[in-house]
Amino acid sequence: MKRVRKAVFPVAGLGTRFLPATKAMPKEMLTVVDRPLIQYAVEEAREAGIEQMIFVTGRGKTALEDHFDLAYELEAVMRGRGKPLDALDGTRLPAGAIASVRQQEPLGLGHAVWCAREIVGDEPFAVLLPDDLMVGTPGCLAQMVEAYGRVGGNIVCVEEVARERTASYGIITPGARDGRLTEVKGLVEKPSPEEAPSNLGVIGRYILQPEVMAVLDAKERGAGGEIQLTDAMAKLIGAQPFHGVTVAAERHDCGDKIGFVKANLALALRRDDVAPALRAYLAEIG
Ligand code: G1P
Repeated sequence: MKRVRKAVFPVAGLGTRFLPATKAMPKEMLTVVDRPLIQYAVEEAREAGIEQMIFVTGRGKTALEDHFDLAYELEAVMRGRGKPLDALDGTRLPAGAIASVRQQEPLGLGHAVWCAREIVGDEPFAVLLPDDLMVGTPGCLAQMVEAYGRVGGNIVCVEEVARERTASYGIITPGARDGRLTEVKGLVEKPSPEEAPSNLGVIGRYILQPEVMAVLDAKERGAGGEIQLTDAMAKLIGAQPFHGVTVAAERHDCGDKIGFVKANLALALRRDDVAPALRAYLAEIG
């Protein structure tokens, strides 16, 4: 079984739900406490053993690559002032660890992943959607890589979602269950609550086999007129092992304003440098 060494980060989205904040800044640079969403996702990937990060970006998104580059002037000034550089931990990646390709048109998540096909090549790869901020020890992707080591094939992260919210997710038809692993018998993108085969929704973490790229080549349109990753994955069911894994991690949906504000609070309340003052303030405004 080939090791999962590469991860695709679809980061070309316009972030219209966060306007005006995202007018001139990528939504993945929105900050939870003191680091941007993209950094949480990249740190999670590195912890899981990923060596090559592939950003699928778009126009106006160069801040994402800059964030993981060496900031030569900044470091020189900080050194000159005797300031420690540990605030930059997690942003200085080994040379060549980030590659980027552009998704020229917003044709859907499946299309974004397909844009990375030449860099992914013929090996299994992960996909991380930075909007889903996952907090766990070990991290979400590390838990999925561990499951992958046991069953191989394709793995999606799943979570029970409220019935009335199925139309916001890819939903699985569950098969046999073994602890945290559930066999995936079917997959449908954003079904209505009446049509949903279960309430197990796909969260933004995937381990996929390279064959999904050949399916995406067909550029078939699905829900919302977009080229859906869910539809392409569904075509692999039966031909390759396919499982959903329920991870032991907390999920914050940072694609949504409330989820984003909650994430800031939840993560700040776990930080020794911020929590005491924040708790006092929350008590004060009660
Ligand atoms: C995408 C996927 C969907 C998945 C979701 C997880 O949807 O298409 O299957 O459940 O991410 O966050 P989006 O949130 O981009 O509409």
